[in-house]
Amino acid sequence: MSARAVEPIIELEDVSRIYDTGRVQVPALVDVNLRVAKGEFMAIIGPSGSGKSTMMNILGCLDRPTSGRYVLDGQPVDELDDDGLAFVRSRSIGFVFQSYNLLPRTSALENVAAPLLYQGVGRKERLKKAQAALERLGLGDRLGHEPSELSGGQQQRVGIARALVTEPALILADEPTGNLDSHSGAEVLSIFKDLHALGRTIVLITHDIDVATAANRGVHLRDGQLQEAVLA
Ligand SMILES: Nc1ncnc2c1ncn2[C@@H]1O[C@H](COP(=O)(O)OP(=O)(O)OP(=O)(O)O)[C@@H](O)[C@H]1O
Ligand SMILES: [Mg+2]
Repeated sequence: MSARAVEPIIELEDVSRIYDTGRVQVPALVDVNLRVAKGEFMAIIGPSGSGKSTMMNILGCLDRPTSGRYVLDGQPVDELDDDGLAFVRSRSIGFVFQSYNLLPRTSALENVAAPLLYQGVGRKERLKKAQAALERLGLGDRLGHEPSELSGGQQQRVGIARALVTEPALILADEPTGNLDSHSGAEVLSIFKDLHALGRTIVLITHDIDVATAANRGVHLRDGQLQEAVLA
């Protein structure tokens, strides 16, 4: 294995996140240690209330640990202010959501082009890259369609194209098949497998052990604590 292949994208060291409601303190993550290497396809599996969304928010730089250290693609996240966090988020992470989170009344092409705007890419180049991303996902004939004119599976493929268009170091997917029927869900997982085969780094968060088997490594979250999982 080359040195490059074992470089970490994600390093969590003793990360805890305690919510303070004023009345009680809820330890949602407790001393979590996790290393995800470049090129891995990792599943984080956990039941309701285990800390998945908390984990997603921290990995996605939408929230900060109460204690511990998070290094994303070589950058210690605790050294960044909110603008710095937003910058790292838009540069390093492509998000895929359960409910797609596409802009309504906006074409697939414009949806996919949008993240490039924040990177200062010119309009012509944005549209060119967005079209290429949609074509790679088999949606070359749906560029002008708005989300309401697409099936759920197609909307999620637009969501994946949007996550890929900035060529992020990490793809972070939160229950990406949660709203899909089994056929479209399997299609989305097969896209992730292909992306993994092409060297992309993917973290998939799910409550569903069957979905998790698409990944090449898994960890279980239980009551905010992490353990290696055996994927069937
Ligand atoms: N803002 C908050 N304030 C207080 N407690 C919270 C807050 N957000 C989450 N929690 C608590 O932290 C724990 C983990 O919640 P989290 O939302 O991360 O779970 P989850 O695995 O995403 O669950 P689900 O599958 O139901 O979405 C839960 O016990 C929850 O009640
Ligand atoms: Mg959740």
